[in-house]
Amino acid sequence: MKFSVSVAALLAALAGPARPATPDDAPPGRALAFATDKGNCLACHAIEGGSQMGNIGPPLADIAARFPARAELFGRIWDETAYNPATLMPPFGRHGILTANEINLIIDFLYTR
Ligand code: HEC
Repeated sequence: MKFSVSVAALLAALAGPARPATPDDAPPGRALAFATDKGNCLACHAIEGGSQMGNIGPPLADIAARFPARAELFGRIWDETAYNPATLMPPFGRHGILTANEINLIIDFLYTR
């Protein structure tokens, strides 16, 4: 039975971070997205539930419909300059502002918006 436990652990790891239970819960990704010393996404983007939001970038809404491919969304947050060399958006992953795990948590949150 040790074997099946290991497989379950592996599958859990592959599934990535746990998703928030409901959109109204405060998931860790929301804190990371809103914190001024982390994502600080609100400086430039409107996100439902945020305050003092900027409009330098487009509103982050309808994310699931507009970014069905999670890998693409990850890539945009990891390094938007790869998509638009002239962007004002910081390359959060490439510059080490956010870890891959933190970006995944933010993505889980954005998919509720
Ligand atoms: C300094 C301003 C700034 C900050 C901070 C910022 N962004 Fe952006 N973002 C932009 C701009 C401007 C665009 C428009 C596309 C471009 O410039 O390439 C953009 C585009 C995007 C897009 C693509 C949106 C679309 O509709 O095509 C996503 C997703 C995104 N940002 C997510 C984030 C997340 C998540 C954070 C926080 C971790 C963040 N951004 C922080 C400026 C910012």
